[in-house]
Amino acid sequence: MTSRYRVEYALKSHRRDEFIEWIKGLLATPFVLHADDQHADAQLVAEDCQQRYYQIFRDVEMLVDQTIFLDELNELDSKKAISRLRRLVPSLGRFFTPLPLADAFLLEDERRAISKRRLVSPSFNDVRMILNTAQIMALTSLYKEKPSARLKLITFDGDVTIYDDGKSLDEHSDVVKRLVKLLSLGLYVGVVTAAGYPRQSGAEKYYERLKGLIDHLNGENCTLKTYQKENLFVMGAESNYLFRYNNEMKGLKYIDGEEWFLPEVRNWNISKINYIMDTLYKHLVYLRSNFNLEDTTTIIKKERSVGIIPNPGCRILREQLEEMVLSCSSKLNTILKYSENFADSTEALCLDDIKVCAFNGGSDVWVDIGDKALGVESLQKYICHDETLDVCPISKAESLHIGDQFASLGANDFKARLSACTVWIASPKETVAILDDLIDFIEG
Ligand code: IMP
Ligand code: MG
Repeated sequence: MTSRYRVEYALKSHRRDEFIEWIKGLLATPFVLHADDQHADAQLVAEDCQQRYYQIFRDVEMLVDQTIFLDELNELDSKKAISRLRRLVPSLGRFFTPLPLADAFLLEDERRAISKRRLVSPSFNDVRMILNTAQIMALTSLYKEKPSARLKLITFDGDVTIYDDGKSLDEHSDVVKRLVKLLSLGLYVGVVTAAGYPRQSGAEKYYERLKGLIDHLNGENCTLKTYQKENLFVMGAESNYLFRYNNEMKGLKYIDGEEWFLPEVRNWNISKINYIMDTLYKHLVYLRSNFNLEDTTTIIKKERSVGIIPNPGCRILREQLEEMVLSCSSKLNTILKYSENFADSTEALCLDDIKVCAFNGGSDVWVDIGDKALGVESLQKYICHDETLDVCPISKAESLHIGDQFASLGANDFKARLSACTVWIASPKETVAILDDLIDFIEG
Protein backbone atom coordinates (compact mmCIF):
# COMPACT_ATOMS: atom_id res chain seq x y z
CA MET A 1 0.00 0.00 0.00
CA THR A 2 1.37 3.40 -0.90
CA SER A 3 0.01 5.78 1.67
CA ARG A 4 1.01 9.41 1.74
CA TYR A 5 2.78 8.62 4.99
CA ARG A 6 4.91 5.92 3.42
CA VAL A 7 5.89 8.22 0.58
CA GLU A 8 6.90 10.98 2.97
CA TYR A 9 8.74 8.54 5.18
CA ALA A 10 10.81 7.35 2.25
CA LEU A 11 11.79 10.94 1.54
CA LYS A 12 13.59 11.34 4.86
CA SER A 13 17.22 11.70 3.95
CA HIS A 14 18.67 9.41 6.63
CA ARG A 15 16.38 6.59 5.48
CA ARG A 16 17.64 6.81 1.91
CA ASP A 17 20.74 5.18 0.55
CA GLU A 18 22.46 7.63 -1.74
CA PHE A 19 24.23 4.99 -3.86
CA ILE A 20 21.01 3.06 -4.49
CA GLU A 21 19.10 6.26 -5.26
CA TRP A 22 21.82 7.35 -7.66
CA ILE A 23 21.69 4.04 -9.57
CA LYS A 24 17.89 4.30 -9.66
CA GLY A 25 18.26 7.73 -11.21
CA LEU A 26 20.52 6.35 -13.96
CA LEU A 27 18.05 3.57 -14.76
CA ALA A 28 15.17 6.02 -14.95
CA THR A 29 16.55 7.47 -18.19
CA PRO A 30 16.15 4.37 -20.40
CA PHE A 31 12.89 3.60 -18.58
CA VAL A 32 11.45 6.96 -19.60
CA LEU A 33 13.06 7.42 -23.00
CA HIS A 34 13.13 3.93 -24.45
CA ALA A 35 10.16 2.14 -23.04
CA ASP A 36 7.42 3.06 -25.44
CA ASP A 37 5.68 -0.19 -26.35
CA GLN A 38 2.62 1.58 -27.75
CA HIS A 39 4.31 1.72 -31.13
CA ALA A 40 6.71 -1.21 -31.04
CA ASP A 41 6.82 -4.90 -30.34
CA ALA A 42 6.76 -5.38 -26.54
CA GLN A 43 9.40 -8.10 -26.66
CA LEU A 44 11.79 -5.92 -28.67
CA VAL A 45 11.26 -2.99 -26.32
CA ALA A 46 12.04 -5.23 -23.32
CA GLU A 47 15.21 -6.54 -24.99
CA ASP A 48 16.34 -3.03 -25.86
CA CYS A 49 15.62 -1.89 -22.31
CA GLN A 50 17.52 -4.83 -20.86
CA GLN A 51 20.51 -4.01 -23.04
CA ARG A 52 20.49 -0.39 -21.84
CA TYR A 53 20.12 -1.30 -18.15
CA TYR A 54 22.89 -3.86 -18.60
CA GLN A 55 25.21 -1.22 -20.05
CA ILE A 56 24.52 1.12 -17.13
CA PHE A 57 25.44 -1.62 -14.65
CA ARG A 58 28.62 -2.36 -16.65
CA ASP A 59 29.55 1.31 -16.41
CA VAL A 60 28.84 1.49 -12.66
CA GLU A 61 30.86 -1.71 -12.23
CA MET A 62 33.86 0.01 -13.82
CA LEU A 63 33.42 3.07 -11.60
CA VAL A 64 33.47 0.71 -8.59
CA ASP A 65 36.72 -0.85 -9.91
CA GLN A 66 38.27 2.59 -10.23
CA THR A 67 37.14 3.49 -6.70
CA ILE A 68 38.74 0.34 -5.26
CA PHE A 69 41.95 1.08 -7.14
CA LEU A 70 42.15 4.69 -5.93
CA ASP A 71 41.17 3.83 -2.34
CA GLU A 72 43.97 1.26 -2.19
CA LEU A 73 46.39 3.76 -3.69
CA ASN A 74 45.38 6.35 -1.10
CA GLU A 75 46.10 3.89 1.65
CA LEU A 76 49.68 3.51 0.44
CA ASP A 77 50.25 7.12 -0.36
CA SER A 78 48.51 10.07 1.23
CA LYS A 79 47.79 11.88 -2.07
CA LYS A 80 44.04 12.03 -1.92
CA ALA A 81 42.85 11.07 -5.40
CA ILE A 82 39.06 10.90 -5.14
CA SER A 83 37.34 8.52 -7.54
CA ARG A 84 34.70 9.74 -9.96
CA LEU A 85 32.07 7.61 -8.21
CA ARG A 86 33.00 9.09 -4.83
CA ARG A 87 32.56 12.59 -6.25
CA LEU A 88 29.16 11.64 -7.67
CA VAL A 89 28.02 9.87 -4.48
CA PRO A 90 29.83 11.53 -1.57
CA SER A 91 28.44 9.22 1.12
CA LEU A 92 29.77 6.09 -0.62
CA GLY A 93 31.36 3.53 1.73
CA ARG A 94 34.38 1.30 1.04
CA PHE A 95 34.17 -1.59 -1.41
CA PHE A 96 36.18 -4.59 -0.28
CA THR A 97 35.59 -6.57 -3.50
CA PRO A 98 34.71 -5.64 -7.08
CA LEU A 99 30.99 -6.00 -7.84
CA PRO A 100 29.86 -7.89 -10.97
CA LEU A 101 26.77 -5.71 -11.25
CA ALA A 102 25.96 -6.41 -14.90
CA ASP A 103 25.81 -10.19 -14.41
CA ALA A 104 23.89 -9.73 -11.18
CA PHE A 105 21.43 -7.53 -13.05
CA LEU A 106 20.83 -10.25 -15.66
CA LEU A 107 20.12 -12.80 -12.95
CA GLU A 108 17.76 -10.49 -11.04
CA ASP A 109 16.10 -9.39 -14.29
CA GLU A 110 15.21 -13.02 -14.96
CA ARG A 111 13.62 -13.25 -11.51
CA ARG A 112 11.99 -9.84 -11.25
CA ALA A 113 11.33 -9.06 -14.94
CA ILE A 114 12.63 -5.54 -14.38
CA SER A 115 13.17 -4.72 -18.06
CA LYS A 116 9.73 -6.05 -19.01
CA ARG A 117 7.99 -3.49 -16.80
CA ARG A 118 6.62 -0.53 -18.71
CA LEU A 119 4.78 1.31 -15.94
CA VAL A 120 6.95 0.85 -12.86
CA SER A 121 10.55 1.96 -13.11
CA PRO A 122 13.47 0.07 -11.50
CA SER A 123 12.89 0.44 -7.78
CA PHE A 124 14.92 0.76 -4.62
CA ASN A 125 14.33 -2.94 -3.91
CA ASP A 126 15.35 -3.98 -7.45
CA VAL A 127 18.67 -2.17 -7.02
CA ARG A 128 19.18 -3.43 -3.45
CA MET A 129 18.70 -7.02 -4.68
CA ILE A 130 21.11 -6.51 -7.59
CA LEU A 131 23.77 -5.13 -5.23
CA ASN A 132 23.24 -8.10 -2.87
CA THR A 133 23.52 -10.63 -5.67
CA ALA A 134 26.61 -8.92 -7.06
CA GLN A 135 28.22 -9.07 -3.61
CA ILE A 136 27.48 -12.78 -3.28
CA MET A 137 28.80 -13.44 -6.81
CA ALA A 138 31.98 -11.53 -5.98
CA LEU A 139 32.55 -13.42 -2.76
CA THR A 140 32.13 -16.79 -4.41
CA SER A 141 33.40 -16.48 -7.96
CA LEU A 142 35.85 -13.65 -8.38
CA TYR A 143 38.15 -15.29 -5.86
CA LYS A 144 38.80 -18.04 -8.36
CA GLU A 145 41.31 -15.57 -9.79
CA LYS A 146 42.93 -15.24 -6.35
CA PRO A 147 42.85 -18.77 -4.91
CA SER A 148 44.27 -17.74 -1.54
CA ALA A 149 41.26 -15.51 -0.83
CA ARG A 150 37.82 -16.88 -0.05
CA LEU A 151 34.78 -16.23 2.07
CA LYS A 152 35.67 -17.36 5.59
CA LEU A 153 33.34 -15.70 8.06
CA ILE A 154 29.65 -14.93 7.64
CA THR A 155 27.86 -12.96 10.34
CA PHE A 156 24.14 -12.37 10.76
CA ASP A 157 22.08 -9.80 12.53
CA GLY A 158 19.37 -11.40 14.74
CA ASP A 159 15.94 -9.71 14.66
CA VAL A 160 14.37 -9.48 11.19
CA THR A 161 17.42 -11.22 9.64
CA ILE A 162 17.39 -14.79 10.96
CA TYR A 163 14.11 -14.62 12.87
CA ASP A 164 11.13 -12.26 12.91
CA ASP A 165 11.37 -9.27 15.24
CA GLY A 166 11.48 -10.44 18.88
CA LYS A 167 11.07 -14.11 17.89
CA SER A 168 13.53 -17.02 17.96
CA LEU A 169 14.81 -19.82 15.72
CA ASP A 170 12.86 -23.07 15.79
CA GLU A 171 14.35 -26.30 14.51
CA HIS A 172 12.19 -26.37 11.41
CA SER A 173 13.11 -22.85 10.40
CA ASP A 174 14.47 -22.61 6.86
CA VAL A 175 17.30 -20.47 8.17
CA VAL A 176 18.59 -23.26 10.45
CA LYS A 177 19.18 -25.65 7.53
CA ARG A 178 21.20 -22.98 5.70
CA LEU A 179 23.27 -22.07 8.77
CA VAL A 180 24.12 -25.74 9.28
CA LYS A 181 25.06 -26.02 5.60
CA LEU A 182 27.40 -23.01 5.91
CA LEU A 183 29.10 -24.64 8.91
CA SER A 184 29.45 -27.88 6.92
CA LEU A 185 31.20 -25.92 4.16
CA GLY A 186 33.88 -24.92 6.66
CA LEU A 187 32.69 -21.36 7.17
CA TYR A 188 32.72 -19.60 10.53
CA VAL A 189 29.22 -18.40 11.39
CA GLY A 190 28.48 -15.59 13.84
CA VAL A 191 25.28 -13.98 15.06
CA VAL A 192 26.16 -10.34 15.74
CA THR A 193 23.14 -8.91 17.50
CA ALA A 194 22.27 -5.83 19.52
CA ALA A 195 20.35 -7.99 21.95
CA GLY A 196 22.52 -7.74 25.03
CA TYR A 197 22.62 -10.45 27.68
CA PRO A 198 25.75 -10.57 29.85
CA ARG A 199 27.79 -13.46 31.18
CA GLN A 200 25.42 -14.69 33.89
CA SER A 201 22.26 -14.95 31.84
CA GLY A 202 23.74 -14.85 28.31
CA ALA A 203 24.20 -18.53 27.51
CA GLU A 204 20.61 -19.26 28.49
CA LYS A 205 19.08 -16.18 26.84
CA TYR A 206 20.90 -16.63 23.53
CA TYR A 207 19.98 -20.32 23.64
CA GLU A 208 16.32 -19.23 23.83
CA ARG A 209 16.78 -17.06 20.72
CA LEU A 210 18.81 -19.67 18.78
CA LYS A 211 17.12 -22.78 20.20
CA GLY A 212 16.42 -24.44 16.85
CA LEU A 213 20.03 -24.19 15.75
CA ILE A 214 21.61 -25.28 19.03
CA ASP A 215 19.16 -28.17 19.44
CA HIS A 216 20.09 -29.28 15.94
CA LEU A 217 23.81 -29.20 16.78
CA ASN A 218 23.09 -31.32 19.88
CA GLY A 219 20.81 -33.75 18.05
CA GLU A 220 21.66 -37.27 16.90
CA ASN A 221 20.96 -36.45 13.28
CA CYS A 222 23.54 -33.70 13.10
CA THR A 223 26.30 -34.72 10.70
CA LEU A 224 28.62 -31.79 11.42
CA LYS A 225 32.09 -32.55 12.69
CA THR A 226 32.95 -31.43 16.22
CA TYR A 227 35.21 -28.60 15.08
CA GLN A 228 32.56 -27.38 12.61
CA LYS A 229 30.00 -27.05 15.40
CA GLU A 230 32.47 -24.99 17.39
CA ASN A 231 32.74 -22.56 14.47
CA LEU A 232 29.48 -21.00 15.69
CA PHE A 233 29.71 -17.74 17.66
CA VAL A 234 27.31 -15.25 19.18
CA MET A 235 28.39 -11.65 19.64
CA GLY A 236 25.87 -9.87 21.85
CA ALA A 237 25.15 -6.18 22.62
CA GLU A 238 26.82 -5.21 19.30
CA SER A 239 30.38 -5.96 20.45
CA ASN A 240 30.23 -6.56 24.19
CA TYR A 241 29.62 -10.23 25.00
CA LEU A 242 31.09 -13.19 23.12
CA PHE A 243 29.84 -16.79 23.27
CA ARG A 244 30.97 -19.86 21.31
CA TYR A 245 29.25 -23.21 20.87
CA ASN A 246 31.00 -25.80 23.03
CA ASN A 247 30.65 -29.53 22.38
CA GLU A 248 31.15 -30.64 25.97
CA MET A 249 28.67 -28.13 27.36
CA LYS A 250 26.27 -28.81 24.49
CA GLY A 251 25.58 -25.12 24.50
CA LEU A 252 27.09 -21.66 24.37
CA LYS A 253 30.20 -20.92 26.37
CA TYR A 254 30.99 -17.39 27.54
CA ILE A 255 34.38 -16.07 26.48
CA ASP A 256 35.86 -13.40 28.69
CA GLY A 257 36.49 -9.98 27.13
CA GLU A 258 40.15 -10.26 28.20
CA GLU A 259 40.56 -12.91 25.49
CA TRP A 260 39.09 -10.99 22.59
CA PHE A 261 38.51 -7.26 23.20
CA LEU A 262 40.28 -5.19 20.55
CA PRO A 263 43.09 -3.06 21.99
CA GLU A 264 41.12 0.18 21.57
CA VAL A 265 38.13 -1.28 23.43
CA ARG A 266 40.31 -2.62 26.23
CA ASN A 267 41.42 0.95 26.92
CA TRP A 268 37.97 2.44 27.19
CA ASN A 269 37.51 4.27 30.43
CA ILE A 270 34.68 2.80 32.56
CA SER A 271 33.71 6.13 34.07
CA LYS A 272 33.36 7.59 30.59
CA ILE A 273 31.10 4.70 29.63
CA ASN A 274 29.01 5.31 32.75
CA TYR A 275 28.83 9.00 31.95
CA ILE A 276 27.52 8.28 28.45
CA MET A 277 24.99 5.76 29.78
CA ASP A 278 23.76 8.12 32.53
CA THR A 279 23.41 11.03 30.13
CA LEU A 280 21.48 9.01 27.57
CA TYR A 281 19.32 7.48 30.29
CA LYS A 282 18.34 10.98 31.44
CA HIS A 283 17.73 11.97 27.84
CA LEU A 284 15.37 9.02 27.33
CA VAL A 285 13.53 9.97 30.55
CA TYR A 286 13.13 13.48 29.17
CA LEU A 287 11.90 12.19 25.79
CA ARG A 288 9.49 9.79 27.43
CA SER A 289 7.94 12.56 29.44
CA ASN A 290 7.90 14.89 26.46
CA PHE A 291 5.82 12.40 24.48
CA ASN A 292 3.61 11.42 27.45
CA LEU A 293 4.80 7.83 27.22
CA GLU A 294 5.22 7.23 30.97
CA ASP A 295 2.28 4.80 31.21
CA THR A 296 2.95 2.83 28.06
CA THR A 297 6.74 2.38 28.02
CA THR A 298 9.64 1.24 30.19
CA ILE A 299 13.20 2.51 30.16
CA ILE A 300 15.81 -0.20 30.65
CA LYS A 301 19.34 0.52 31.79
CA LYS A 302 21.94 -2.20 31.48
CA GLU A 303 25.69 -2.16 32.02
CA ARG A 304 26.40 -1.11 28.43
CA SER A 305 23.08 -0.06 26.95
CA VAL A 306 19.95 1.94 27.63
CA GLY A 307 16.69 1.54 25.81
CA ILE A 308 13.03 2.42 25.80
CA ILE A 309 10.60 -0.41 25.09
CA PRO A 310 6.79 -0.53 24.91
CA ASN A 311 4.92 -2.15 27.82
CA PRO A 312 3.07 -5.40 27.04
CA GLY A 313 0.09 -4.67 24.79
CA CYS A 314 1.33 -1.15 23.94
CA ARG A 315 3.30 0.24 21.03
CA ILE A 316 5.39 3.30 20.35
CA LEU A 317 4.40 5.16 17.18
CA ARG A 318 6.83 4.95 14.32
CA GLU A 319 7.25 8.73 14.21
CA GLN A 320 8.04 8.79 17.92
CA LEU A 321 10.60 5.99 17.60
CA GLU A 322 12.21 7.92 14.78
CA GLU A 323 12.18 11.21 16.69
CA MET A 324 13.70 9.56 19.77
CA VAL A 325 16.48 7.80 17.86
CA LEU A 326 17.42 10.96 15.98
CA SER A 327 17.35 12.92 19.21
CA CYS A 328 19.58 10.34 20.97
CA SER A 329 22.02 10.39 18.02
CA SER A 330 22.20 14.13 18.18
CA LYS A 331 22.67 14.06 21.96
CA LEU A 332 25.48 11.54 21.51
CA ASN A 333 27.18 13.74 18.94
CA THR A 334 27.05 16.61 21.35
CA ILE A 335 28.37 14.77 24.38
CA LEU A 336 31.03 12.91 22.42
CA LYS A 337 32.33 16.24 21.19
CA TYR A 338 31.75 18.57 24.14
CA SER A 339 31.65 16.90 27.48
CA GLU A 340 32.36 19.68 29.94
CA ASN A 341 30.13 17.94 32.45
CA PHE A 342 32.27 14.86 32.57
CA ALA A 343 33.54 14.49 36.11
CA ASP A 344 37.13 13.61 35.35
CA SER A 345 38.30 16.97 34.04
CA THR A 346 41.62 15.72 32.63
CA GLU A 347 39.71 13.65 30.12
CA ALA A 348 36.80 15.97 29.72
CA LEU A 349 37.13 16.56 26.01
CA CYS A 350 38.04 13.13 24.74
CA LEU A 351 35.02 10.91 24.99
CA ASP A 352 35.05 10.30 21.28
CA ASP A 353 37.30 7.26 21.38
CA ILE A 354 34.35 5.28 22.68
CA LYS A 355 32.07 3.91 19.96
CA VAL A 356 28.36 4.22 20.65
CA CYS A 357 25.40 3.41 18.46
CA ALA A 358 21.78 4.52 18.69
CA PHE A 359 19.15 2.69 16.68
CA ASN A 360 15.46 2.24 16.13
CA GLY A 361 14.76 -1.48 16.49
CA GLY A 362 11.30 -1.26 14.91
CA SER A 363 9.35 -1.24 18.16
CA ASP A 364 11.98 0.13 20.57
CA VAL A 365 14.98 2.49 20.67
CA TRP A 366 18.40 1.59 22.06
CA VAL A 367 21.71 3.24 22.69
CA ASP A 368 24.52 0.70 22.96
CA ILE A 369 28.17 1.10 23.85
CA GLY A 370 30.10 -0.44 20.96
CA ASP A 371 28.89 -1.16 17.44
CA LYS A 372 28.76 -3.94 14.84
CA ALA A 373 31.95 -2.73 13.13
CA LEU A 374 33.76 -3.66 16.34
CA GLY A 375 31.64 -6.80 16.79
CA VAL A 376 32.58 -8.18 13.37
CA GLU A 377 36.22 -7.11 13.58
CA SER A 378 36.57 -8.67 17.04
CA LEU A 379 35.34 -11.98 15.63
CA GLN A 380 37.74 -11.81 12.66
CA LYS A 381 40.62 -11.27 15.07
CA TYR A 382 39.48 -13.67 17.79
CA ILE A 383 39.12 -16.59 15.38
CA CYS A 384 42.71 -15.91 14.35
CA HIS A 385 44.17 -15.68 17.86
CA ASP A 386 45.54 -19.09 16.88
CA GLU A 387 47.67 -17.88 13.97
CA THR A 388 48.46 -21.41 12.82
CA LEU A 389 44.92 -21.90 11.50
CA ASP A 390 45.07 -21.99 7.70
CA VAL A 391 42.06 -19.66 7.59
CA CYS A 392 44.07 -16.76 9.05
CA PRO A 393 44.14 -13.86 8.72
CA ILE A 394 40.51 -13.06 7.89
CA SER A 395 40.33 -9.86 5.88
CA LYS A 396 37.31 -7.59 5.40
CA ALA A 397 37.05 -8.92 1.84
CA GLU A 398 36.68 -12.45 3.24
CA SER A 399 33.95 -11.59 5.69
CA LEU A 400 30.25 -10.99 5.00
CA HIS A 401 27.62 -9.45 7.27
CA ILE A 402 23.91 -9.90 6.51
CA GLY A 403 21.43 -7.56 8.20
CA ASP A 404 18.30 -5.45 7.85
CA GLN A 405 19.40 -2.11 9.30
CA PHE A 406 21.48 -0.17 6.81
CA ALA A 407 20.05 3.34 6.92
CA SER A 408 22.79 5.87 7.62
CA LEU A 409 21.34 7.08 10.94
CA GLY A 410 19.35 5.25 13.62
CA ALA A 411 20.31 1.78 12.32
CA ASN A 412 22.87 -0.66 13.67
CA ASP A 413 23.97 -2.99 10.84
CA PHE A 414 25.21 0.05 8.91
CA LYS A 415 28.38 0.13 11.00
CA ALA A 416 29.29 -3.43 9.95
CA ARG A 417 30.08 -1.93 6.52
CA LEU A 418 33.34 -0.67 7.98
CA SER A 419 34.53 -4.21 8.75
CA ALA A 420 33.05 -6.52 6.12
CA CYS A 421 31.19 -6.89 2.84
CA THR A 422 27.46 -6.60 3.44
CA VAL A 423 24.10 -7.79 2.18
CA TRP A 424 20.97 -5.80 3.02
CA ILE A 425 17.88 -7.94 3.49
CA ALA A 426 14.34 -7.01 4.57
CA SER A 427 13.09 -10.29 6.09
CA PRO A 428 14.27 -13.77 7.15
CA LYS A 429 12.79 -15.02 3.84
CA GLU A 430 15.21 -12.84 1.92
CA THR A 431 18.04 -14.16 4.09
CA VAL A 432 17.11 -17.70 3.06
CA ALA A 433 17.01 -16.69 -0.62
CA ILE A 434 20.43 -15.02 -0.55
CA LEU A 435 21.94 -17.98 1.34
CA ASP A 436 20.55 -20.34 -1.30
CA ASP A 437 22.33 -18.29 -3.95
CA LEU A 438 25.50 -18.22 -1.90
CA ILE A 439 25.48 -21.99 -1.35
CA ASP A 440 24.66 -22.60 -5.06
CA PHE A 441 27.51 -20.38 -6.19
CA ILE A 442 29.98 -21.98 -3.76
CA GLU A 443 29.02 -25.49 -4.85
CA GLY A 444 28.35 -24.71 -8.52
P1 IMP B 1 19.33 -7.17 16.31
O1 IMP B 1 18.35 -6.90 15.20
O2 IMP B 1 19.69 -8.62 16.39
O3 IMP B 1 20.54 -6.28 16.26
O4 IMP B 1 18.54 -6.91 17.70
C1 IMP B 1 17.91 -5.70 17.98
C2 IMP B 1 16.85 -5.89 19.02
O5 IMP B 1 17.38 -6.52 20.19
C3 IMP B 1 16.33 -4.57 19.53
O6 IMP B 1 15.35 -4.03 18.69
C4 IMP B 1 15.78 -4.95 20.91
O7 IMP B 1 14.42 -5.33 20.82
C5 IMP B 1 16.59 -6.16 21.34
N1 IMP B 1 17.50 -5.87 22.48
C6 IMP B 1 17.53 -6.56 23.64
N2 IMP B 1 18.47 -6.09 24.45
C7 IMP B 1 19.08 -5.08 23.83
C8 IMP B 1 20.18 -4.22 24.19
O8 IMP B 1 20.78 -4.30 25.24
N3 IMP B 1 20.52 -3.29 23.24
C9 IMP B 1 19.89 -3.21 22.05
N4 IMP B 1 18.88 -4.00 21.67
C10 IMP B 1 18.46 -4.94 22.57
MG1 MG C 1 17.84 -6.52 12.94
